[in-house]
Amino acid sequence: MSYNLLKGKRGIIFGALDANSIAWITAERIHEEGGKFVLTNAPIALRMGQINELAEKTNSQVIPADATSLEDLENLVTKATEILGGKLDFVLHSIGMSVNVRKGNHYTNQNYDFTHKGWDISAGSFHKTMQVLYQKDAMNEWGSIVALTYMASQRVFPDYNDMADNKAYLESIARSFGYFFGRDKKVRVNTISQSPTPTTAGQGVKGFDGFISYADKMSPLGNATGLDCANYTIAMFSDLTKRVTLQNLYNDGGFSNMGVSDGVMQAFVEGK
Ligand SMILES: NC(=O)c1ccc[n+]([C@@H]2O[C@H](COP(=O)([O-])OP(=O)(O)OC[C@H]3O[C@@H](n4cnc5c(N)ncnc54)[C@H](O)[C@@H]3O)[C@@H](O)[C@H]2O)c1
Repeated sequence: MSYNLLKGKRGIIFGALDANSIAWITAERIHEEGGKFVLTNAPIALRMGQINELAEKTNSQVIPADATSLEDLENLVTKATEILGGKLDFVLHSIGMSVNVRKGNHYTNQNYDFTHKGWDISAGSFHKTMQVLYQKDAMNEWGSIVALTYMASQRVFPDYNDMADNKAYLESIARSFGYFFGRDKKVRVNTISQSPTPTTAGQGVKGFDGFISYADKMSPLGNATGLDCANYTIAMFSDLTKRVTLQNLYNDGGFSNMGVSDGVMQAFVEGK
């Protein structure tokens, strides 16, 4: 169903890798809601992924950018405003990767080159993206910037490894940069803290199957899906949420405020 919430709005979507990606589902929904956008991903992901299929479906162009490279980001923002014919109204940062997780390094045994690389991709890239947008004055007033995050930034989830620290940093950048973006450009900046979702990045987390069913049992509304996340993001990009900024917004079926649920208790009673 379309509400035409993003009619006439322009933006950039980072992070669509395949049809499971939260950014992919969001791009499809934004298209349905009348928004126009440029898709971007790291050059290596473009070679491996299926992004051209999404571009065709949504009538959009793809501009490669490694989100850790200022040069790539500058080129991306300049080209996106040219292609779309004006300043931007929305930007989705849907990027995350831990090299330590990929290489199987335990949290207590990090390779700090990997730690730094993972931080740069998962958190530093958000600052860099906003700095380029801010300095180029590329956002329209009442524009909206969203980055995706996870609860491990606030509570301990041991297998989330150094991504937990990256997400804490990401959420802090949203507040710190969001202040200047709000004061100077009337642009809002928020993070959406999403339930575990079966995507390439999600399934990289050790023990993901247990993780996702535990969260589902703990949450009164069950886990939020990728489509739920896309819909929330659309609300945040629309004119209906103009003064929501500097927030970490939970899209998690209620998980973040739970202590224990009947469903989880049951498992322990039965297991006696
Ligand atoms: N899947 C989950 O359980 C879950 C839960 C909460 C938050 N998130 C967050 O949602 C976001 C999207 O992840 P997803 O679950 O859709 O997985 P995904 O693997 O589909 O997306 C991650 C994207 O990051 C991109 N990326 C990696 N390195 C990059 C670089 N150097 N430059 C540009 N892009 C780069 C990848 O190519 C990929 O498209 C991430 O921030 C992730 O941490 C995911």
